[in-house]
Amino acid sequence: MRSIIDIPDLSLPELDALMDTAEDIIRRPGDYAEVCRHKKLATLFFEPSTRTRLSFEAAMYELGGNVISVAGADASSVAKGESVADTVKTVSCYADIIAMRHPKEGAARVAAMNATVPVINAGDGGHAHPTQTLADLLTIRREKGGFSGLTVGMCGDLKFGRTVHSLLSALCRYENMRFVLISPEELKVPSYVKSECLKRNSLPYTQVTDLESVIGDLDILYMTRVQRERFFNEEDYVRLKDSYILTPDKLRKAKADLCIMHPLPRVNEISVAVDTDPRACYFKQVLNGKFMREALILKLLKEAGTL
Ligand code: NCD
Repeated sequence: MRSIIDIPDLSLPELDALMDTAEDIIRRPGDYAEVCRHKKLATLFFEPSTRTRLSFEAAMYELGGNVISVAGADASSVAKGESVADTVKTVSCYADIIAMRHPKEGAARVAAMNATVPVINAGDGGHAHPTQTLADLLTIRREKGGFSGLTVGMCGDLKFGRTVHSLLSALCRYENMRFVLISPEELKVPSYVKSECLKRNSLPYTQVTDLESVIGDLDILYMTRVQRERFFNEEDYVRLKDSYILTPDKLRKAKADLCIMHPLPRVNEISVAVDTDPRACYFKQVLNGKFMREALILKLLKEAGTL
């Protein structure tokens, strides 16, 4: 049974094909409005979420399917001590496909090993978030026309930010990319991500602590929130949380066609005054995420023989 736990589970041609399907859904939504009739998606979210859960659910409805849902560990048998394995074996009896978010790294892999229907990782702790990456890729392709020769800045919590890890894993597979990793010393990209992505593909990258000195070089600026829930103590979070705040003033040095991205939710990382700048793409990412999740649900249900 094919599940998607992280970006390496999809080949480059498959990533491109998912983007093509999403573009087709955008052009001809009516052709997809009934394709998942009588099929059920289960959303199991054991960590807070607004966009990811609702976009999975909206995606399934737009394909004509139905949704069953558990929101919050407190509301399910997890609160009684049930294991992830038993939960997904149970949910496999009710649903054709599962999207799961869990606070523990690796939980999605355990789910995929035990489910009898496809599992999509909707975020596992500080590890990976492949469907956010699908949203990010479509946004970059639509804004920049492709993935060659881009200088990508990633800024903020690069240590705990799972969206950063999955996006790096995807972008490292395209050619002629350069990366500028902007973070406080304490929140640098984990070494396993560097060795699996950047070093393995011998891609040029620099690590800096200052955003303003590099902003003018960037084609993409991917801002992220400091991941409060993954810190061991509140003092460190408070000290680091406002390390980077993007303002119209800082953007004066940026390229005219910079693409400003953020997986959201934003706390203080981007001033709301930036929202009206034509370079702000973060709400486009939200919309693109729904279309990419539609494309992924379709692909996995077809491969499982359900459609
Ligand atoms: C991200 C996540 O959950 O990792 N949010 C999202 O799904 N769009 C980013 C975050 O929470 O900071």
